[in-house]
This record gives sequence, C-alpha cells and structure tokens, in this order.
Amino acid sequence: MLVTATKMLQDAKAGHYAVGQFNINNLEWTKAALTAAQECNSPIILGVTAGASKYMGGYNTAVGMIKGLIKDLNITVPVAIHLDHGSFDDCLKCIEAGFTSVMFDGSHYEIDENIAKTTEIVKLAHEAGLSVEAEVGAIGGEEDGVVGTGECADPVECKKIADLGVDFLAAGIGNIHGKYPENWAGLSFETLDAIQQLTGDLPLVLHGGTGIPEDMIKKAINLGVAKINVNTECQLAFAAATREYIEAGKDLQGKGFDPRKLLAPGAAAIKETVKTKMELFGSVNKA
Ligand code: 13P
Repeated sequence: MLVTATKMLQDAKAGHYAVGQFNINNLEWTKAALTAAQECNSPIILGVTAGASKYMGGYNTAVGMIKGLIKDLNITVPVAIHLDHGSFDDCLKCIEAGFTSVMFDGSHYEIDENIAKTTEIVKLAHEAGLSVEAEVGAIGGEEDGVVGTGECADPVECKKIADLGVDFLAAGIGNIHGKYPENWAGLSFETLDAIQQLTGDLPLVLHGGTGIPEDMIKKAINLGVAKINVNTECQLAFAAATREYIEAGKDLQGKGFDPRKLLAPGAAAIKETVKTKMELFGSVNKA
C-alpha cells in the first residue's frame, strides 16, 4: 500500500520505535526490501537518491517499478517512496513523478536560505500530498556524490526549520554516511536530546544507519528518532554474497551465470539485512 511517510513516522515516534528507510538501486533491491517488509509486517520507506534514480533510468522508472511490485507481489504493508537528499530541483521532479515523500537537503546553505527554500518545498509538496523531510547540520561522509562534514546541528536552527511545517527532521548528531572510522566519537546524544526538547512530537531522522552500534540505535530511538536510514550496509551484504558465489565458481556450474541465479544470493542478503534492521528498530508487526 503506497502512502506518505507522515503517519507511519508519527505512529513510530508515539510508539517508541523507528521505521527504516532502505535505499534502493535496482529491481532486486526493491523486491528484497518490499518482501522483507511484508514478511515482517512492517512499514517501510524506500529511499531513492537522485543518483540511484538516474542509474535506474529516472524518477518515473523508480515509481513505476515500485508501484508494479506492490501490486504484483501483493504488498499490503505501508510503503513510502522517498527522495533521499534532494536538491530543490530534484524535489520538484519527484513531486511530478509520483513520489510520496521528499527530503530537501538544505543543510549546505546558510540557515536563512535553508529556511526560504524549505518553506517553498513544504508548500509545493503538501499541496501535492507528499510528506517532507528537511535537514539541519550536514551528515558526514559521502553518498552518491553528496558530501557532508558530519557536524552537530544547532538545536535552535532545528526548531526554526521544524516550525516551517516539515513532517520529519534530519539533524546532524555526529553521524556519517558509509562505514564509521575507528576513531569515531559516537552519536552526540546531548545534541539529540536538546533538539527533541525543542521540537517536541516531530519525528526525528537518523541518517548513516550503517555501522551504528545497537545500543546507540536504541538510545537514539528513546530520544525521539523515528526514522533510520540504511544504505551502505545493504550494499556490503549484496557485494559479499555475490563475491562468495563467484569465488565458489558457481557461475561456471550449469546455468549458474543466469542473472536470476547469479544475483539471487545478493538479493537474499539484502532481504536478511533489512529484516535484521526492522527487528532492531522495533518496526516488526507495526504495519
Ligand atoms: P548509510 O549508507 O551509512 O547507511 O547511510 C544511509 C543514509 O543516511 C541515506 O540517506
């Protein structure tokens, strides 16, 4: 069932669990994520970056594929199609293409410009019936060419952006995209606590879900995080399973080169990863 992310995240915040955003790259990814959600009876947010969309053919292809799978696979749990880290123009294109949710990443602008642009996106997206995520304080690391420095957001700026009517808010709290370095200082719960105190019931978003220790995930959920983004971890699981298949020479046995066979272990690994995260985030049976 295709929905916006607004209600699922309000329910998550009130129920003290988080809904996972799993970024997709292709058909196998999307199928694995959707079937994991259905089997876990969990709501799910499919994250689509501009880069991943381009890879798949474009925003319309992403929407068409997801809608087709929901119908053909009989996916009855709530599913949101969410633009991850979009520019102003990306958001406009996704509203047009039938996404149900957009993230406007204004974290690299000065706060006044972030406010002005977020205000405009909130207006346009809400008129079209989409939910909106905004960001304060850049997420560190690199994802599909979007590079951030990993700063901690200013809670007062978070409050200003929250008051623009966004449906959920991403705030930098020392998190980064991709693997965490050995000397990572961990999440700043002090910052998260201060942000939640100022923003109240607004669901908060934790980017860079890959590699955050379980106790930190649980503590973040306790402090108001209702959406957790996972991307790299599925990529690593897919790559490792595919490597194992090929290194075992299975592509050379019989029709092991058939893409439906060759890509199956990777797809199964993605599905397993998604299920493990849903358990950890507490979203199982919350559909
Ligand atoms: P990871 O790649 O670190 O899991 O981060 C995902 C993310 O935050 C998507 O926006």
